[in-house]
Amino acid sequence: MNKELLKKQAAGKAVEEIKSGMVVGLGSGSTVYYALEKIGELISSGELKNIVGIPSSKQTEKIADKFNIPLVTFDEKQEIDVTIDGADEVDKYLNLIKGGGAALLREKVLAQASKKLIIVVDESKLSPKLGTNWPVPVEVIQFAYALEQKYLESVNAEAELRKYDNGEPVVTDEGNYIIDANFGALQNPFEIAEKLENRAGIVEHGLFLHLTSKVIVAGKDGIIILDKK
Ligand code: 5RP
Repeated sequence: MNKELLKKQAAGKAVEEIKSGMVVGLGSGSTVYYALEKIGELISSGELKNIVGIPSSKQTEKIADKFNIPLVTFDEKQEIDVTIDGADEVDKYLNLIKGGGAALLREKVLAQASKKLIIVVDESKLSPKLGTNWPVPVEVIQFAYALEQKYLESVNAEAELRKYDNGEPVVTDEGNYIIDANFGALQNPFEIAEKLENRAGIVEHGLFLHLTSKVIVAGKDGIIILDKK
């Protein structure tokens, strides 16, 4: 089945969890796009009322504007009822690698502020071990990127500064760089996370551990829901 259709199905299922009056965290990426589209439809048909969204990226902010989803910031609301976000890799413990779209820092801020984090993916994102198909994106301050690249290599990662097609480094919404750190399949993602959390130049990393409430997976045989045990 067409991958875009699978993404749309997973996103549509997640939107069923949103009720009128909620504060909704809006993740980033092409799967979340369909959730934003659906939320916009439900607002305009009057089925969802008094919804406000908090976007996880400038790109999502623009898309939410396009679909007339009212937005607020953390200045106004400090608790999110439910966040819908995508992922690059998902394991059976509902741990994730995120950051393919370079929005991992704000996405993690939203995840930590949410009562419920729902992840929407197509089945190609499921993985026996995180790191099998995707490096761990690491957000670093520009000042220290070369130093942190060296550090990542010293802990056995192949570390590559993410660049645009024109050769310029990718700059995140918070003005930082991204280094994609390939450790191979991770035997213990918590150990790697710890190594990444002890460096001043590293702002955040794309390992989302013990944060997810539910993963909605759309595949050719239908929708599967992975719930936190
Ligand atoms: C952005 C992300 C995205 O949610 C992730 O890359 C999945 O995107 P897509 O739904 O387009 O595959 O983490 O930082």
